[in-house]
Amino acid sequence: MVPTDTATDAPVLFFDSGVGGLSILAPARALMPAMPIVYAADNAGFPYGTKTDAEIAARVPALLGRLVERYRPRIAVIACNTAATVALAHVRAALDIPVVGTVPAIKPAALASKSRVIGVLGTDATVRQPYVDRLAAEHGADCTVLRHGSAALVAYVEARLRGAPADPAVPADALAGLTDQPDGGRMDMVVLACTHFPLVQDELAAAASHPMTFLDGGAGIARRIAYLNGEAPWPASPSPGQAVFTRRGEDVDALAPALANYGLTQVNVL
Ligand code: DGL
Repeated sequence: MVPTDTATDAPVLFFDSGVGGLSILAPARALMPAMPIVYAADNAGFPYGTKTDAEIAARVPALLGRLVERYRPRIAVIACNTAATVALAHVRAALDIPVVGTVPAIKPAALASKSRVIGVLGTDATVRQPYVDRLAAEHGADCTVLRHGSAALVAYVEARLRGAPADPAVPADALAGLTDQPDGGRMDMVVLACTHFPLVQDELAAAASHPMTFLDGGAGIARRIAYLNGEAPWPASPSPGQAVFTRRGEDVDALAPALANYGLTQVNVL
């Protein structure tokens, strides 16, 4: 829990490899409008989804340590399924503030599925994690859990938010990675197990070959942040949010309008 004597302006830190964490930031900001925000994107390490577990485990806790030292957040949110499913325990062990992880919403998907076929659409790194095996065994033991990793969809979302050209076939191809598997035609729930993907949920829905429901963890994480914050005070009014990148570049400049849509009007490099 956050101590009640925490500085009013202590921010909540959101962390992702890129823009995906904005899908986690948005519902949190809607629930707690005066929450001071630091949004950190490790663009120097992007993408995470094609890295080895060892590379991710070596990079993420160290980087979060630096960010916490620099910004003194009240809570850190790993707004990235890849980083959280690989490194959540390491990050918690390294930091002395509450850490919220984003993990695939398999439990609500299994609860809601009528066909008992659910899909998990994430990065290659996330869909191979033992963490996902455990969630599937614990909550979806009577379900067929299809998995597909799509680095192309992550790149597509980054391009879309930068206003850069993106191949319109990518969302349909990513979904086909699930529906083309045995039983895929009966899949009625799709867990968006990469925080980039809810940002293009409309496009995924438009590309769906049959009716299916998309689920992600954003709303649950917003409630979790509110719970962990407890009685610690927020500022009286909203302040400009800060985005921090690990590498300066044209990609950062091109993102400014999209970041501003999420209240992130100050952009820095770590
Ligand atoms: N947004 C990240 C996730 O939730 C990963 C994207 C990437 O860097 O590959 O998994």
